[in-house]
Amino acid sequence: MANNTLTVTDNRTGKSYEIPIFQAANPIYGAAIRAPDLRQIKTSEDDFGLMSYDPAFMNTASCQSRITFVDGEKGILRYRGYPIEELAEKSTYLETAYLILYGELPTEVRLKEWVQKITFHTMIHENIKKFMDGFHHDAHPMGMLVSTVAALSTFYTDGKNIFDPQSQKMQTYRLIGKMPTLAAFAYRHSRGLPYAYPDNDLSYPGNLLNMLFKMTEVKYRPNPILERALDVLFILHADHEQNCGTNAMRSVGSSHVDSYSAVAAAAAALYGPLHGGANEEVLRMLTEIGSKDGVPGFIKKVKAGEGRLMGFGHRVYKNYDPRAKIIKQVADQVFEVTGRNPLLDIGLEVERIALEDDYFIKRKLYPNVDFYSGIIYQAMGFPLEMFPVLFAIPRTSGWVAQWLEMLGDPEQKIARPRQLYLGSEERHYVTMSERKAA
Ligand code: ACO
Repeated sequence: MANNTLTVTDNRTGKSYEIPIFQAANPIYGAAIRAPDLRQIKTSEDDFGLMSYDPAFMNTASCQSRITFVDGEKGILRYRGYPIEELAEKSTYLETAYLILYGELPTEVRLKEWVQKITFHTMIHENIKKFMDGFHHDAHPMGMLVSTVAALSTFYTDGKNIFDPQSQKMQTYRLIGKMPTLAAFAYRHSRGLPYAYPDNDLSYPGNLLNMLFKMTEVKYRPNPILERALDVLFILHADHEQNCGTNAMRSVGSSHVDSYSAVAAAAAALYGPLHGGANEEVLRMLTEIGSKDGVPGFIKKVKAGEGRLMGFGHRVYKNYDPRAKIIKQVADQVFEVTGRNPLLDIGLEVERIALEDDYFIKRKLYPNVDFYSGIIYQAMGFPLEMFPVLFAIPRTSGWVAQWLEMLGDPEQKIARPRQLYLGSEERHYVTMSERKAA
């Protein structure tokens, strides 16, 4: 018997089956059986066959990927093998995006060319401004971003040629280039400010700050510390393997829709308070707590089941989120420029008390990436509603990389889960006069 197999005995029938084990190169990356191999396990000829049941993908690999590795127990995050700590210290967001997309760090020439391409795709069609104007003055910028990125598919119809390498390149440049512009325009609209156009002399994060905050000055000059802080935050948010948003990107993209529509779906998933919307919720929570003295009472309520500690816990990390550690260092640099955000002290107190509390220890609940990012964004002058938007901008490179990987994977087909049907047996249509009130 081969030793890379699993022997399963079905106690209903007494039959044994040998199922191949599909092993990653290194055991730390996991192993799996192919769920379709279970279908042969039946109790009778007309039995549908065994499936695996995993409602929230708790232990189901939906793809093979070479992009990002997360070890939640050890608190490890690597893009293409490079530790997040090294990238956050030495790289830039655009260089990291290139790495995530193409698998290797770029040479000097390739990086220059890449940055130039992204920079020259930051402009958006003037008509996009018109439908931006159609939103209410208090429209949530994430709702605006989700809608306008989907609308880009109507401007760039070559995006439908999803298998054409030239088209793939163009949509990659456009998506990464234009997301900050859409985001900034959404913000300016909500403030009733005139749109500020991209400035090609500035870096990717510097230009975003320009489009958001430029007032009457002829040339906007970003504060270099805040510009770098934003770049580091972007590096930390660039990809995170098969999370809810990325799964939406792959799942929607598996229907072979264009990448703008798939990114809109991924951004919509990110909008939710359990995912990228959590950083906004953290700020609301800390504001509600109000002071360090309010922390024990709030934690008591959480433990009694009255709400969750936002920014705590993670499906994969059962240890300190490595991104949260880096963000804490970034916070110190930002506060030297902006002054200390008073919510930081409440946040630190929440963390201190939670990490000593049995409820959180037992459930392995640690601060995640969103716990401190909102405090920094607020100190930098971003309103709460912009927080998920600031997550979606850098995550676009991850979404596109995962989408391209999926398109190139011969094993991928349209995503179509199975279900365990629990509804009625077959029954027949009842005319209205014969129906009884429920
Ligand atoms: N506060 C209080 N209790 C929590 C929290 C929390 N933040 N998170 C999980 N728990 C508890 C649950 O109540 C549950 O307790 P029980 O076993 O007594 O019922 C246990 O911990 C396990 O929780 P699950 O919901 O099963 O964990 P899951 O892996 O499904 O959820 C999630 C992960 C959604 C991130 C969750 O921890 C959460 O809601 N956190 C708050 C929202 C948040 O910060 N989201 C951002 C995640 S990072 C990101 O998406 C970028």
